[in-house]
Amino acid sequence: MTASPLATVRTVADLRAHVAAWRRQGLRVALVPTMGALHAGHLSLVSLARTRADRVIASVFVNPAQFGPNEDFAAYPRDEAGDAAQLAAGGCDLLFAPAASEIYPPGFATTVTTAGISESMEGLARPGHFAGVATVVSKLLIQAAPDVAVFGEKDYQQLQVIRRVAIDLDLPVEIVGAPTARAEDGLALSSRNAYLTAEERRVAGVLNVIMARAAGRIAAGDDIAAAEAEGRAAIEAAGFARIDYFETRAADDLRRLGPGVIDAPGRLLAAVLLGRTRLLDNRAI
Ligand code: PAF
Repeated sequence: MTASPLATVRTVADLRAHVAAWRRQGLRVALVPTMGALHAGHLSLVSLARTRADRVIASVFVNPAQFGPNEDFAAYPRDEAGDAAQLAAGGCDLLFAPAASEIYPPGFATTVTTAGISESMEGLARPGHFAGVATVVSKLLIQAAPDVAVFGEKDYQQLQVIRRVAIDLDLPVEIVGAPTARAEDGLALSSRNAYLTAEERRVAGVLNVIMARAAGRIAAGDDIAAAEAEGRAAIEAAGFARIDYFETRAADDLRRLGPGVIDAPGRLLAAVLLGRTRLLDNRAI
């Protein structure tokens, strides 16, 4: 059976009209923000959203503000028709696909920035990235006013930044993290995996194996610095071009943990370069 075409809105006014109608019926609303190029990972966010609300909105917006000048904004994969078909089949009720001018109209001059939690790791590698994310996500949450919003744990630092923003700005929404969807060999699903050559794709699958070993050592009480050093050496030996970070951090505020044994719920986070593709992954400890 093919799903019927997904209702699509492009303006904040139309989005709000749909949400207001649902609210009049007493329905709970979830939002799943995305940049499109959807894969099974995004659909798992929609599935989780379905369990938490009566109606699910997905937004598809390739947010120029979160790309650096030398990043892949122009080349970022775009396929609205394909995304809409997948969302409809995945149980989404409404697609919000605004033009850039709807999100950033002429004269737009406001940026949401966070301190601390956004300054390490991706914040160092991609200056301005989290301000772009925090700004667009704040806007989407204010525009859709959902009861719950679902984000992938795959971008764990982003998830924690968004949680911080929602708390600090008193946004009346529950932020839910969804477990990372993985390919058969454990590679975290990402729209950017499409950039990998066949050989790179083979090597990419090794990252999560190395991370699982390091996370397991740390959880078992081994020295954090020693487990990280072994992990970094294994990544280099596997043929990755560069390690941006491979670090153990506190799961909540992302403060650095170690050296020594782990003394708080932790997260091992990594970003590595393979060919021209940056891969991110993380593991709970
Ligand atoms: O994770 C993403 O796809 C994006 O960073 C998000 C949260 C949709 C904001 O543009």
